[in-house]
Order: sequence, then C-alpha cells, then structure tokens
Amino acid sequence: MNFYSRKLIKPEDLNPNHTLFGGSLLRWIDEEAAIFAICQLNTDKLVTKFISEINFINSARAGDIIEMGMEVIKFGTSSITFKCVVRNKFNKDKIITIDKIVFVHVDENGRPKPHGVKIATEPEREPEPKTVNG
Ligand SMILES: CC(C)(COP(=O)(O)OP(=O)(O)OC[C@H]1O[C@@H](n2cnc3c(N)ncnc32)[C@H](O)[C@@H]1OP(=O)(O)O)[C@@H](O)C(=O)NCCC(=O)NCCS
Repeated sequence: MNFYSRKLIKPEDLNPNHTLFGGSLLRWIDEEAAIFAICQLNTDKLVTKFISEINFINSARAGDIIEMGMEVIKFGTSSITFKCVVRNKFNKDKIITIDKIVFVHVDENGRPKPHGVKIATEPEREPEPKTVNG
C-alpha cells in the first residue's frame, strides 16, 4: 500500500474530546479516494458508489501527523475497488481502516461506462532530492 497524503492535525480538526473529529477525517479520505480513483482510471467522470464499514481504531491528537494509504483491490468493467488505511506517520498506529471503496466510471447520462483499465498505475513519486557534496 502506498501512503500518498499527509495531514497535520490542528486544533480546528478536533472533537469536544480533544481528539480528531471523525467528520474531518472522512472528508480528507473522500478527497484522497477521489484523487486516487481519478489517477488510476485517468478520468474524472467518476462517482462514489460504495464505502464499506469504517473502523475507527485509534484516535489522533493535535500535533500528530497522519498519512493516508490506498491500494487497488480490483478493476471491474466500470468500477474500481480499493481499500484505505490511515495511520500515524511516526508510530504507524492505525487510525482508521476501510476495506472497500468503490468508484464507478459514468457516461454523460450518469450511467456506468467501461473504463478499460486493468492494471494499477505506479505511484507518482517526486524525485529524491539530490545530495550536494563538498
Ligand atoms: C453509480 C451508479 C451510476 C451505478 O448504477 P447501477 O445501476 O448500480 O450500476 P450497475 O449495477 O451496472 O453497477 C455498476 C458497477 O458498480 C458496481 N456496484 C454496484 N453496486 C455495488 C455495490 N453495492 N457495491 C460494490 N459495487 C457495486 C457493479 O459491480 C458494477 O461494477 P462493474 O461494471 O465493474 O462490474 C448509480 O448507482 C448512481 O448514480 N449512484 C449515485 C452515485 C453518487 O451520486 N455518488 C456520490 C454520492 S455522495
């Protein structure tokens, strides 16, 4: 699984219990999932079809850095299915897992349309910074 995006937890992201507000996390995951699906299928004509059970495993606090990971499970005809893990960047404690997120490629009338993709796109990586000697 590749962990694409990171977030610094800020005071405005917290619930009254001073831990990460689930709604904030779900909004970030929704955006990250959409970007992931668009990159994998190379189209933005996609809609969210299904999100499975969401398991909140550990909380996060202000100052924590979290990272969001996605991995393709299946390319269907019009759909793509992937899973998601959000974890603490440093101690790797899992914060949330979602076993199944499904996006569907649609035509101009909003009906399912084959996307023609069968293999996962390599993660987009920035080149490593060059070390300057001497
Ligand atoms: C997405 C939508 C066009 C699919 O229509 P549909 O009549 O269910 O289409 P189909 O039954 O032909 O299924 C299309 C694909 O979705 C998959 N699918 C349908 N229901 C599913 C479910 N409950 N779980 C997982 N996958 C599902 C099918 O397996 C199929 O995949 P494939 O083409 O890769 O084999 C329609 O349900 C829709 O417009 N939903 C609203 C989407 C939306 O507004 N999302 C934003 C919510 S905030």
